[in-house]
Amino acid sequence: MMSLSKSADVLARFLALKPAHVEAHCKTSQELMAWQQEEGKKVAKRVTDLNRMARLERVLGRSGIQPLHQDCGFRNYLAETEEQQQALAMAQAYYLNFGQNVTENGSQSHGGFIFSGHVGTGKNHLATAIVRNLIKDNKVAAIITVAELCQKFRASYEKNSPVKEATLLKDLCQLDLLVLDEVGVQKSSHNDFEINLLSQIIDRRQLQLKPTGMLTNLNYDQLLALLGDRIMDRQVNGGLWIPFTWQSYRSRKGGRA
Ligand SMILES: Nc1ncnc2c1ncn2[C@@H]1O[C@H](COP(=O)(O)OP(=O)(O)OP(=O)(O)O)[C@@H](O)[C@H]1O
Ligand SMILES: [Mg+2]
Repeated sequence: MMSLSKSADVLARFLALKPAHVEAHCKTSQELMAWQQEEGKKVAKRVTDLNRMARLERVLGRSGIQPLHQDCGFRNYLAETEEQQQALAMAQAYYLNFGQNVTENGSQSHGGFIFSGHVGTGKNHLATAIVRNLIKDNKVAAIITVAELCQKFRASYEKNSPVKEATLLKDLCQLDLLVLDEVGVQKSSHNDFEINLLSQIIDRRQLQLKPTGMLTNLNYDQLLALLGDRIMDRQVNGGLWIPFTWQSYRSRKGGRA
C-alpha cells in the first residue's frame, strides 16, 4: 500500500498533467488513499470468491450447474398463464433481493425457497436461472440432487477419499446458496441415511442463516412427513414457497428434456 506522502506525489503529478476539462476523481491524497484501499478490498474479495468457487468445484467434481440446464435463464422461461408469470416474477425477485434475508417482523432469516410441483414444470429451469445469475455476481451457488449428495458423502467415508466428510459438510454449509434437487425422490432402503444427511445440512445452514433451496414433487404434507416440523417450519417461515401446478413443458415439447 502506498504511503500518504507517496500518494500526495502521485496525485500532484497527475493533477499537473491532467487536461483542464477532465474532472479529477480524487482531489486530496487522503481521498486517493481511501480509494486505493477500497479497490484493494474489492480485489481481495474477488480472489476469496474465486477460491470459494474453485473449492466447491473441486468438492463436487463439476461446476454449480449441470450441462443439461446450462441454457436456462429468466428470459427463456415461457410464462403463459398467470400462475407461471407469478412463479417467474417471484424467482426473479428472489434473485434480485438475494442476501437481504429479513422477515416481516424485521428479524434476520435464512431466506431459502421451496419449488414444489409436477414434473417438467420448470422448477430446475427457474432455480438454475437464480443460481446462474448469482454466480455471475460472484456468489458461490450450486444445484445438487439428493442422490448425488448421498453419493458424495458415501465416497467421503472411503479410507483413501481425497475429500473428507467434514470438509464436504463445511464447504456445502458455506455456499451462499445451495439448491437441493429431487428432494423426496429416493425411496430406497437408504432412506434414513438420506433424511439424516438432508436434515443435518439444512439445519446447519438455517442456523448459519444460509439459504437452502429445495426442488420437489412432494406437496407440503409429504415434505413435512419427510423433513419434520422443525426444519419445515423454519424453511417456510422466512422463506419462499412457489407451487408449480401446471402441465409438464416436456409433454408439450413431445419428449424428455
Ligand atoms: N415455462 C418454460 N419455458 C421454457 N422452458 C421450460 C419451461 N418449463 C420447463 N421448461 C424446460 O423443460 C425442461 C424440463 O424442465 P425442468 O427440468 O425445469 O422441470 P422440473 O420441474 O425440474 O421437472 P422434474 O420434477 O421432472 O425434475 C427443461 O429443459 C426446461 O428448460
Ligand atoms: Mg427437476
